[in-house]
Amino acid sequence: GVLSTFNIFYIFLILWYSIHAKKCIDKFPKDFKFGVGTSAYQIEGGWNASGKGENIWDRLTHTHPEAINDRDNGDIACDSYHLWKTDVENLKYLGVHHYRFSLSWSRILPTGFVNQINKDGVEYYNNLINSLLANGIEPIVTLYHWDLPQTLQDLGGWSNVKTADYFADFVRVAFRLYGNRVKTWTTINEPYRICYDSAGDFEISAVPVLPGFGCYLCARSLLIAHSKAYHIYDKEFRKQQKGKIGIILDSSWPIPKTNKTDDIEAAERYIQMMLGWFAHPIFSKDGDYPEIMKKTIQERSAKENYRESRLPSFTKEEINALKGTSDYLGINHYETEWIENFEFPIGKPPSYFKDIAVKRSKNPKWKPSPDIVPWGFYKLLRWVAKEYNNPLVYITENGYGDNNSNGLQDSNRIVYLAEYMKAVLQAIQDGSNIKKYTVWSFMDNMEWRRGYSIKYGLFNVDFTSPNRTRTPKTSAKFYKQLIKTGTIPK
Ligand code: NOJ
Repeated sequence: GVLSTFNIFYIFLILWYSIHAKKCIDKFPKDFKFGVGTSAYQIEGGWNASGKGENIWDRLTHTHPEAINDRDNGDIACDSYHLWKTDVENLKYLGVHHYRFSLSWSRILPTGFVNQINKDGVEYYNNLINSLLANGIEPIVTLYHWDLPQTLQDLGGWSNVKTADYFADFVRVAFRLYGNRVKTWTTINEPYRICYDSAGDFEISAVPVLPGFGCYLCARSLLIAHSKAYHIYDKEFRKQQKGKIGIILDSSWPIPKTNKTDDIEAAERYIQMMLGWFAHPIFSKDGDYPEIMKKTIQERSAKENYRESRLPSFTKEEINALKGTSDYLGINHYETEWIENFEFPIGKPPSYFKDIAVKRSKNPKWKPSPDIVPWGFYKLLRWVAKEYNNPLVYITENGYGDNNSNGLQDSNRIVYLAEYMKAVLQAIQDGSNIKKYTVWSFMDNMEWRRGYSIKYGLFNVDFTSPNRTRTPKTSAKFYKQLIKTGTIPK
């Protein structure tokens, strides 16, 4: 009959498989870690408290308030300089495995140089780190998250390659002070943004430099700074401290606007000149910028009658010092972009985007929405695995910005996080070596030029209350549940 033992066996097998397979799909591996992130300038406040020196964001917001949305600044921000205990409580509530934050260089070294160490600044991070560890939370520490000491900016900032040496001095101090407890270090957060956004094509900037030149000088110094920090850790500290050190790079995922060769090549050129700009020197065998980047800028510079490429090259020694200098690749990802080939007319001034020769937009038809494109994240993660020989990847930022119009009910953020985490899981199942995921951000904070108008937090912060009250949004509850079960809730 139909229900022979054989058929019943198969019915059960299919049933069991469908239940089990679902579980497999939504469950993260046991050793996978979840966390949240912030950065010093965006949350600490206490901009001149207890001996902290001035940094470039203090200077910009104080001298050019019009450059910031609503003329806001980070003088108080979330006041985490005073409220770090509350922060640790909230991290415990979430149940995170790690907390990614950054050291404020000028809080530890007020002048930027090692001639003067600010004891109170040092203590601030000691307290935070100790308290995290006491609560079983791993500190992931970023050494440079955009807040350069103003003194160093006065010497040219990242346009001046000497800044890499001062950074090396600073990181040595940091390893010495905290390396017995901090086991995951990040050298530089998003060099791409630092160099094209801050040192690129903006008129009023924290680090104003010549467009089309400054960004390349900046990138070169940052890469050298990164490699110096890596070697210092490797030679002087790794043996006793046994941690990992890497860089954090950001990238969107570019999709060609049409299937014309021009657009396909433009999308490829874009990712190579955005992510590849920094990843290729460190993660490829060449130890240098991607070929396509060198060629593109060389050709354009020649057409503009410059004697040499506006992209300054590395020496042999620098190339050798750069190769392989990252124990992991930190990836920050937010969005997918539609890329179209576009040749800007020759003429001055030059600029980074003229060099890439692309126009960017978003496809209104993308699903689930133009701002939520999880499959773009999946493609980026698989591209990275293929391009750089499947490196160890930590997702150091991913998250959703809104204007908080629904108060604590942030259902879009939940959809975004759930879908993007599914994409991460899919990438892992297809072979990507990803071990950590970090939501940006732990709480609403000072979103740089956009001030407090854009909010990324799992926690809402009341910036009108003197004690900067933090309240979990629905997304915080969602993430808490996800961490507890290691499974993406439906
Ligand atoms: C990049 C940066 O690292 C962080 O500081 C910023 O707030 C987020 N992305 C969101 O834009």
